[in-house]
Amino acid sequence: MLTSFHSRAQAEFHPAPSIEPPEETKLAVSPSLPKDAGCVGTFVGTGEGVKGAGVDAAFLKAAGFEGKAGQTLVVPQKDGPPLVVVGVGGKAGLDAGRLRDAAAAFARAVGQQTRLALQLPELGSVPVELAAQALTEGVLLARYRYRPYKRQSEQEPPLESLTLVAGQEDTDAVEQGMVRGGIHARATAFARDLSNAPATLLTAARMAEVAEGLAKRCGLEVEVFDGEALARLGCGGLLGVNAGSAEPPRMIKLTYTPRGSKGEAVQPVGRVSLVGKGIMFDSGGLGLKPNDLVHATMKGDMSGAGAILAAMTALKSLGCRTAVTAYLMCTDNMPSGTAMKLGDVLTVRGGKTVEVINTDAEGRLVMSDALVLSTEQSPRPDAIVDIATLTGACQRALGLLSAGVLGNDQALVEQVKDSGERTGDTVWQLPLDRRLRPELESEVADLKNVGGENAGAITAGLFLEEFVGGLPWAHIDMAGTARAERDNAWRSKGATGYGTRLLIDFLMGFKPTRETRH
Ligand code: BES
Ligand code: ZN
Ligand code: MN
Repeated sequence: MLTSFHSRAQAEFHPAPSIEPPEETKLAVSPSLPKDAGCVGTFVGTGEGVKGAGVDAAFLKAAGFEGKAGQTLVVPQKDGPPLVVVGVGGKAGLDAGRLRDAAAAFARAVGQQTRLALQLPELGSVPVELAAQALTEGVLLARYRYRPYKRQSEQEPPLESLTLVAGQEDTDAVEQGMVRGGIHARATAFARDLSNAPATLLTAARMAEVAEGLAKRCGLEVEVFDGEALARLGCGGLLGVNAGSAEPPRMIKLTYTPRGSKGEAVQPVGRVSLVGKGIMFDSGGLGLKPNDLVHATMKGDMSGAGAILAAMTALKSLGCRTAVTAYLMCTDNMPSGTAMKLGDVLTVRGGKTVEVINTDAEGRLVMSDALVLSTEQSPRPDAIVDIATLTGACQRALGLLSAGVLGNDQALVEQVKDSGERTGDTVWQLPLDRRLRPELESEVADLKNVGGENAGAITAGLFLEEFVGGLPWAHIDMAGTARAERDNAWRSKGATGYGTRLLIDFLMGFKPTRETRH
C-alpha cells in the first residue's frame, strides 16, 4: 500500500535502528580520567556546602551553583576538557532515580560532545552497581534522538564513548552496572524508535517482520498470526478493529524460555503472560478523532506492544529466569466502508460478545482476545500483565509522568509498583471499583465496550478484567506516559519508551503471588 510520496523514506527506512548492531557507544570504566575525554562530569550535592570535586567552592557559589538536583554548570579548564558540575541535591535520600536524572542533566549540558567521562559521586547507601546502571541509563537515554528522517547534515553526532571514573575497588561492580544500564537503555531506545516511526511505514505486518528479524539474536521464539489464522482462533476483537483498515492485522506471539549454560531449558521461577496494545495508528475509526494534536500522536498507540517487544529483547542477555509469553495485538483503527459500525457486536476469543458503542475504544477490543489466549495456555501463567495506551482519562487523572495500574491481585500490583520506583517508569494505582461494572451492561451483548463519562480508566480496566478468568492480573494504562512534550531528564521529546525498563525489571524479579495449579 505504499505510494510514491513515501518513496524516499521507504528506500532508506529501518523503523527501529536502535536495536540493530553495531552498538554506537563504547562503555568503559577507568580509575583515572581518560585522555581523550571531550568533557568531564562531576557531581556536587547541596549538603556539602557545595565543595566541589576539583572546583573552587567560592567560584561555584559566585556562579549561583547550589548543587540542586539537575542543576549544571560548565567550567572551562585551562589545561584539559571542560568540567561539568552537576547537582545531585541533598545527601539524604540520594537514590538511583536521582542519579539517573542527574546523569541526564549532564548529558544535556554537554551538547554535541561525543566522548564523555563522568566521575562516580559519593554514593551513600546506593549500591555501586545500581548507581553505575542508573548513570549509564541517564546519559544514553537523554542523548537519544530519532534520526532516520533527518538530513545527514542535521543529525547530531552519536555518542562515541562514556567512561565512568571510579576507584579500582569498584571496577567490577561499575562495569556490571554499565553493561546492565546499556542493555536497559538500548531496549528503551528501540521502543522509542518503534513509537516514533510513522504509521504508514511501521504497519502491523512490518512490526511482525521486525520481531522476526531479532528473534534469533535475542533468544525469542516468534509466531505470527495473520487475518486467516486470527479468524481460525476466533479473535473477533482484533479482527473487528481491523475491519476498516487497508493493512492486514498481525498477532505476534513471543516466547522466552529461560535456559542454562548449555542452552537447555531450565525450570523457570515463574510464568508471566504479557499483552500489548499494538494500534499502529488510532484514527478513532468511524468515530473519527478531531483533527488535533492528540490525533497527530496516534502513531504511538502501539507503545504498549512496543515496550513488550523491546523488553523481551533484553531477557536473554540479562539471564532472566521467568518464562514469558507475549501477545502483541497489532492493527490500525481506520474508518472506511468496511469498518466496524457503532452498534456492531463482536465475538471475541472464548465466545463473549461485545457491543461496540464507540469505535474509538478499540484498544480493549484487541486486547480481550489476547487475555483469553493467555488464560488458555498450558502450563497456565502465574500472572498476566497488560500494557496499553488505553485511555485519555488516565492521562487526565495522572499526567504525563506516571502510568495507571489496576489489578485483581494486590501482591502483583505491588511488584509492578516496585519496578516502577526502581526504573523511574512510575505507576500510580487506581481502584478496580467493581461497583462501576454495571456501566458495561449491554442491551444486546454480554457487555459493551465503554462505560459512562466518568472514571474512564477504571471502566476500561473492568472491561479487561472480564477476560482474565480470575488469574492474577495487572493492567498498566500508559496513555499519558508514552510521549514527552519536551526534553525532561532522561525522557527525550517524543516517544519515551515508557514501560520497557519497568517490564524488564518486573520480569527479572517476578515471584508468583499464589499457588497456581498448572
Ligand atoms: N488511544 C486512545 C487513548 C489515548 C489518548 C492514548 C490520548 C494516548 C493519548 C484510545 O484508543 C482512545 O481513543 N480512548 C478513548 C476512550 C473512550 C472512547 C472511551 C478516550 O480516551 O477518549
Ligand atoms: Zn487507541
Ligand atoms: Mn481509540
